[in-house]
Amino acid sequence: MILSIESSCDDSSIAVTQIKTKQLLYHKKISQEAEHSCYGGVVPELASRLHAVALPQILQEAKPYFDNLQAVAVTHQPGLGVTLLEGITMAKTLATFLKIPLIPVHHLKAHIYSLFIEKETLAPLLILLISGGHTQIIRVKNFDHMEILATSMDDSVGESFDKCAKMMGLGYPGGPLIEQLALKGDESRFALPVPLRNSPLVAFSLSGLKNAVRLTVEELGGSEAMSEKDKADLSASFQKAVKLHLIQKSKKIFAKESIKDFAIVGGASANQYLRRAYLDLCREFKKTMHVAPLEFCSDNAAMVGRYGIDAFERKQFIDPDAIDIVSTKKQQSGMLL
Ligand code: KG4
Ligand code: ZN
Repeated sequence: MILSIESSCDDSSIAVTQIKTKQLLYHKKISQEAEHSCYGGVVPELASRLHAVALPQILQEAKPYFDNLQAVAVTHQPGLGVTLLEGITMAKTLATFLKIPLIPVHHLKAHIYSLFIEKETLAPLLILLISGGHTQIIRVKNFDHMEILATSMDDSVGESFDKCAKMMGLGYPGGPLIEQLALKGDESRFALPVPLRNSPLVAFSLSGLKNAVRLTVEELGGSEAMSEKDKADLSASFQKAVKLHLIQKSKKIFAKESIKDFAIVGGASANQYLRRAYLDLCREFKKTMHVAPLEFCSDNAAMVGRYGIDAFERKQFIDPDAIDIVSTKKQQSGMLL
């Protein structure tokens, strides 16, 4: 069995996965959304302190599996430095104490493996990764060769939902709040700009759209002066612009890529409105769409454990004294290392 730990942002999570059958034997996640909500975003130092309390609590529950553990897997990059450190310290201690190998896990690869929890892997695959830290289209030839085809030049999709929700005084995380409000809104009321609409660039950009939402909030007299209807209409108009942007750029890639399987992963892949738009696009290009179960879209240790199984089989271990955090929040285009 592999014990896996996730602490790259504001979710403390531990899982135990059986190597041979890929069965998820134990999984628990404690989210810190309520604690960060009043700040409208994640406060790293607070997140780190909350991990220091939650992770040992969860680990107690996983203790009955300790005798059967063959490896510990932990997210080591990218993420918030101070929160990654909490999981890494626990993983290093466990690996040393139990005398078992330590597996370093790249967070974005773990998101891709959320598709394969209790399943076999699938490749080649085209991936749209939309999370709080990243917005990328990745070509997975095989799991040693993943190439980033398009990436955001500024904010990520998740971040733009969070920031726009904050501007409207909705709370955190903004994604689910905006998606819910948008259901009641008129998406054609505000003509927000679709980013890079007339640009040949195959890239993403969300900061201009975020700024347009900021100006609209100001024109409406600020979040406190906005009615529920204003907020619902602005949420729907914003979500529509994000959709049009993602689909326009994805279409350019779909037109060139012969890979038949396409997947959306990451926290924002839980968004049903975006999922529906991609289902239509997949139909148009005769691709099959895959998504992870909703509970595994946002950060969790089950996906870290599933990646850990493949890494265990390839003996991709690291000396506990050599593992270090790599807290780069955004990865530039190129290879997914
Ligand atoms: O993957 P994730 O849990 O953490 C990172 O790796 O960043 O993604 C969290 C992000 C947050 O920005 C959150 O607002 C966004 O995913 N998110 C959504 C939805 N649910 C979560 N964005 C849009 N629509 C949603 N339903
Ligand atoms: Zn994530």
